[in-house]
Amino acid sequence: MLKFNSDGRFTIMCFGDLHESADYDGAGKKRYEDMLALHNAALDEFRPDLCVYMGDNCRVGKLDTPEAQETFRNNVAAFTKPVRERGIPFTSVFGNHCHDNGYEDLQLEIYQSFENCIMRNDAPEITGNSNFNEFVYSSDGRKPVFNLWFIDSNNLYSTEYVSKYDWVHTDQIKWYEKRACEIKEANGGRVLPALLFQHQPVPEEYDLLRKAKPWEIPVSVRGCNLRAKTRYVKKPGVEGYLGEGPCSPDYNNGQFESWKKTGDIIGAVFGHDHMNEFAGMVDGIMLMQTQTAGFGAYTNGCRSAVRVITLFESDPWCFETQLKHFKEFGLKAQSLGPVFRTLTDRQSINLHIAKNTALALAGAAGIAYTIKKFGRR
Ligand SMILES: [Fe+2]
Ligand SMILES: [Fe+2]
Repeated sequence: MLKFNSDGRFTIMCFGDLHESADYDGAGKKRYEDMLALHNAALDEFRPDLCVYMGDNCRVGKLDTPEAQETFRNNVAAFTKPVRERGIPFTSVFGNHCHDNGYEDLQLEIYQSFENCIMRNDAPEITGNSNFNEFVYSSDGRKPVFNLWFIDSNNLYSTEYVSKYDWVHTDQIKWYEKRACEIKEANGGRVLPALLFQHQPVPEEYDLLRKAKPWEIPVSVRGCNLRAKTRYVKKPGVEGYLGEGPCSPDYNNGQFESWKKTGDIIGAVFGHDHMNEFAGMVDGIMLMQTQTAGFGAYTNGCRSAVRVITLFESDPWCFETQLKHFKEFGLKAQSLGPVFRTLTDRQSINLHIAKNTALALAGAAGIAYTIKKFGRR
């Protein structure tokens, strides 16, 4: 059972796309050690109560032989070691590359074979794998105070909508709505606040960006897929580093609208974009990118970071979040050349979403909150 600590806090640490495998060569070994150094330092400093791997964690081959299954198990054992040896509960969402070779049920079984893994597939009848929710209970363990959703954003797809990336399917959205309704009923008719974790971002991330003016082109990013002809910069008030055009699906299947209608989700965390760490409010919901927490994915080196989220038992409609980067832990990368090593790291974010003075969601769900503090460290 996940529950708030006696100090009324619950801390979640997110590790974005690691894309690492423990069966490394010489260069890979240094990368892997840099990744473990980041995870160890972050876990020691923040002592989280739950860790979430944001998908695309490691190579997943065809798991059709005992040897291939053993290799995958060794990979999971290796990257989860810092978390497991501290006895911290953990889970993962499926990334698009986790679907490349299938065998999702077997992957889940292998994750579940590790002590402290809370990953589950609550709805095998719907699209994707390991769609589930988990409550964070009060510190006395008596009642759920907060809810966490873990959703599979699937892999690739293309139809007349010409999307490179698939979306969260209608049956998944319906499952979420039905389950959220049951949770509300069990909570005496009151909506239980929630965060959602999934690999691929929702298209609404583009609401945090605007088209770049001609003189802004050098500091802009190119949009993804159907938006590739447009260059974007962040809108004012959006904090954190925009490193690439968000690779959300081109087709909007209404997942974000469903969150607004249901009214429980105050923030959503995404991986997939290895260099994006921006975060901002769209219609009262904080959308947070979490860049890679490793060195094996495409990235700009020392920006590798972890995202930390703190929940408050006495004030569950409020949370704090921050990113802390490899360099900010005082670590030195063995796997990077001098250029990447000297990159500065000034765009880290420290967001504080506090409660209930604005009217962002008031009309839709009877919930209101605003950003109390929204600044850089
Ligand atoms: Fe990835
Ligand atoms: Fe991905």
